[in-house]
Amino acid sequence: MAFPATRMRRLRMNPLVRSRLEETDLAPRRLIAPLFVRPGRRERRPIPSMPGQDQLSVDLLIQEARSLSRLGLRSILLFGIPERKDAAGSGAYSPRGIVPQAVRALKNEIPELLVVTDLCFCEYTSHGHCGILKGGELDNDATLEIIAKTALAQARAGADIIAPSGMIDGMIRAIRQALDKGGFRDRVIMSYAAKYASAFYGPFRDAAESAPAFGDRRSYQMNPANAEEALREVDLDIQEGADIVMVKPALAYLDIIRRVKERTHVPVAAYNVSGEYSMVKAAAQNGWLDEARTVREILTALRRAGADLIITYHARDLLA
Ligand code: PBG
Repeated sequence: MAFPATRMRRLRMNPLVRSRLEETDLAPRRLIAPLFVRPGRRERRPIPSMPGQDQLSVDLLIQEARSLSRLGLRSILLFGIPERKDAAGSGAYSPRGIVPQAVRALKNEIPELLVVTDLCFCEYTSHGHCGILKGGELDNDATLEIIAKTALAQARAGADIIAPSGMIDGMIRAIRQALDKGGFRDRVIMSYAAKYASAFYGPFRDAAESAPAFGDRRSYQMNPANAEEALREVDLDIQEGADIVMVKPALAYLDIIRRVKERTHVPVAAYNVSGEYSMVKAAAQNGWLDEARTVREILTALRRAGADLIITYHARDLLA
């Protein structure tokens, strides 16, 4: 039955009806806020390209996490900026490293908060690449060894979910084996399964001080032109033991989120990355966009595309 018996506007006409029929929700439990931790005490270093985001020392990180938790946020994703960088990225797997320190403090102080740890080396290596270099190239299998060590250090500190982001072949299998052998059979792995070599990471590399000293990441991160390859990456990570798979970035990859969601039966996460955040902030600061509405629309789109979880720097603003 079409018009006039059917009138689509009937269901939109007033907010009582309209809000009951909303298909997609943005419940706080869906959100994960990334946070940057650095050494020191009472240190807050604003990240110029990401207004509203700071590098925080552990004491201030706890304050921030507590305040987010009071707003209803349930999960955070932790990145570390180490005291020192070296060729092997040893700051990542040292049990006294900045991330294990921060995780121990978080789990002590705010046990109800889910703590996800990013597992990568670009913040920890002097050359800024995501693993061990040999002859100017990333050595895949040598990197697997430090990935396993880092996963164990993070698990021992109390991380609930380990999230490897380096796009190293075999990383999920290496982590699963290390965790199982180390007595952490129940720790979850969220794989950055389909991670593209994206210009949208620009502000993050300031934030995490992780820009590569030479070259780029195209020999490990994916070509933005490819979709079939993303599905293959996702399939392999699930076979290796990924519990959750992620698509990153999010906005320019809604088709990938949707296809991954339809193809798999594991929870899907989308990473609304730094550049996506900074674009909105910059436009809002110029008065060109209504920030709150824009953010809701973007995050709703990610949920509608199929994301069960959304990693977003907008989490605080959304909940506040
Ligand atoms: C580390 C990592 C990056 C991001 C998350 N983990 C940067 C990169 O791959 O260059 C990007 C996050 C963002 O842009 O918000 N490998």
